[in-house]
Amino acid sequence: MKSVGSPETPPSNHRHRTQHRRLLSVAYQKVSTPTRFLILLVLSFILGYLFHAQPLVSQSAADLLAHSTFLPEKCHNPVPAENVRQTIIDRVFNHTSPWEGFPPKHVSSGGLIFKEWTKGWGSNAPVFEHLIQKAKPKTIIEVGTFLGASAIHMVGLTRQMGLDTQVLCIDDFRGWPGYYDEGKGMQMVNGDVVMLYQFMQNVVRANASDSIMFLPFSTNTALGGLCDWGVYGDLVEVDAAHDFHSAWVDINNAYKVLKPGGILFGHDIVWVGVRKAVEIFARLHGFKIAIDGEHWVLY
Ligand SMILES: C[S@@+](CC[C@H](N)C(=O)[O-])C[C@H]1O[C@@H](n2cnc3c(N)ncnc32)[C@H](O)[C@@H]1O
Repeated sequence: MKSVGSPETPPSNHRHRTQHRRLLSVAYQKVSTPTRFLILLVLSFILGYLFHAQPLVSQSAADLLAHSTFLPEKCHNPVPAENVRQTIIDRVFNHTSPWEGFPPKHVSSGGLIFKEWTKGWGSNAPVFEHLIQKAKPKTIIEVGTFLGASAIHMVGLTRQMGLDTQVLCIDDFRGWPGYYDEGKGMQMVNGDVVMLYQFMQNVVRANASDSIMFLPFSTNTALGGLCDWGVYGDLVEVDAAHDFHSAWVDINNAYKVLKPGGILFGHDIVWVGVRKAVEIFARLHGFKIAIDGEHWVLY
């Protein structure tokens, strides 16, 4: 007995398919080349329309710019200001204050740091006093600290005003390529410019370690950490790298960890990259820019 669908007795669907193919091939031969081309064009247009990738963001310039930041739209619920210092000690330094036992022996006896060696640019400018007076901050976040000149100055001001303030310093403490020329006389140990230890020494020397905590990471990573942990600043200062892209990311991320009603400001508005970033940011968020010396302040 022959099975159904054997070559001698083609099943009806097989016959249909063969007929279809024949009809299509006849139709194809009857259609002229330009018409074939037109059909292909229309088909590819329809397929393209149906299957095109959806854009992740809407196309307006404002939206594109607003989406070009890295932190989430909303940071974690805020920790109380009195817990900010301990939060950094726990999260960054595994529950032990980095000031404990500083300087370590290999640093103090190895001659790696000066008793005090600092430098800054506009680090004592009047803007700090103006803004601390106005904001009465419990937490200040400084994005770009270098050897601590401006942070130490801010600690002095808050203490003079009787405020109980923590200054959180963000810096990778690497400076920049060629920084070594700037830090004349400073050690370089196997390529490490020893900036973190010199910063810490300057802070200890200024008796400011009770008021300063630091995050020795890239600005992006450190601000991401603060955002995750719910650490916000009443005052946030941006003074890290001054090219447009760095300033743009820093300003956007810094804004995420600014307390509602807090003040965002920064240094070096004369740098084209900084000015461009500040102006775009202010326009997008409806801020005005005040200039205080070399600093910009958003209000
Ligand atoms: C102009 S200095 C800060 C000066 C300081 N505010 C003062 O007035 O004393 C800039 C600092 O930003 C730091 N920096 C630049 N880009 C950085 C980044 N992407 N992440 C972390 N730190 C950065 C450098 O290491 C340098 O110490």
